[in-house]
Amino acid sequence: MSLTPTQIAADPSPLASEVSDREGHVFLVRPLRNTDATALGVFFDSLADASRRVYGPHPLNCEHAQVLCEQIDYATSLRFIALGPASETPEQVAGYMILELGVRPGDAGRYREVDHPLDDTITATFAPVVADRWQENGLGSAMFPVVTDAARRVGRQQIILMGGVRDDNPRARHFYEKFGFERIRGFFAGGVDNHDMILHL
Ligand SMILES: CC(C)(COP(=O)(O)OP(=O)(O)OC[C@H]1O[C@@H](n2cnc3c(N)ncnc32)[C@H](O)[C@@H]1OP(=O)(O)O)[C@@H](O)C(=O)NCCC(=O)NCCS
Repeated sequence: MSLTPTQIAADPSPLASEVSDREGHVFLVRPLRNTDATALGVFFDSLADASRRVYGPHPLNCEHAQVLCEQIDYATSLRFIALGPASETPEQVAGYMILELGVRPGDAGRYREVDHPLDDTITATFAPVVADRWQENGLGSAMFPVVTDAARRVGRQQIILMGGVRDDNPRARHFYEKFGFERIRGFFAGGVDNHDMILHL
């Protein structure tokens, strides 16, 4: 069933879901709310350098978490957090996935260069990160279907990667390929090769 931003703002719970990682830890995946600033800030502040090296959609600190939570607008972006595990730290953020509704100019330009223009009204832009403690444990894979379900319900037909994925990030490339993302082009940025990938929903 499709949802409008107003409906989501009134009740985001239809986009929430309980998921489990590979070891059976249960997490609640739900859209970010304006009361999540402290937990999100702790999550950002605790990200290790290895994650920051490959993930930089915006400043990753508690000040920016505050800004994001004050400016929630479900008409322009859905940000999902995974809280848990339920049995240990139910209030702790263990994963964060951005789903922007639309395309950033830099990403749009690269797709245009290879004759692959993107329709802003049906495209979403994705950027995921899982807490270092929980990486490679199946949490990202469990969260992703919650995000794609939401993308469909807000009328999106395809998802691209925010700023592509670095060639020297084989885990993320495997993750995207596993879920059916297709490579569109390569490009050089930040001193490394990167790949633009798209998923048709
Ligand atoms: C990318 C990310 C979100 C994936 O979430 P996750 O919870 O770690 O992912 P999962 O455990 O569900 O899946 C990881 C997969 O990568 C595989 N993998 C791990 N290391 C790998 C490597 N070096 N090369 C190839 N595949 C690798 C795992 O085997 C697993 O695949 P499988 O499900 O087929 O067995 C997470 O690792 C992360 O936050 N990384 C740092 C930030 C980042 O890279 N963000 C993306 C930027 S484009």
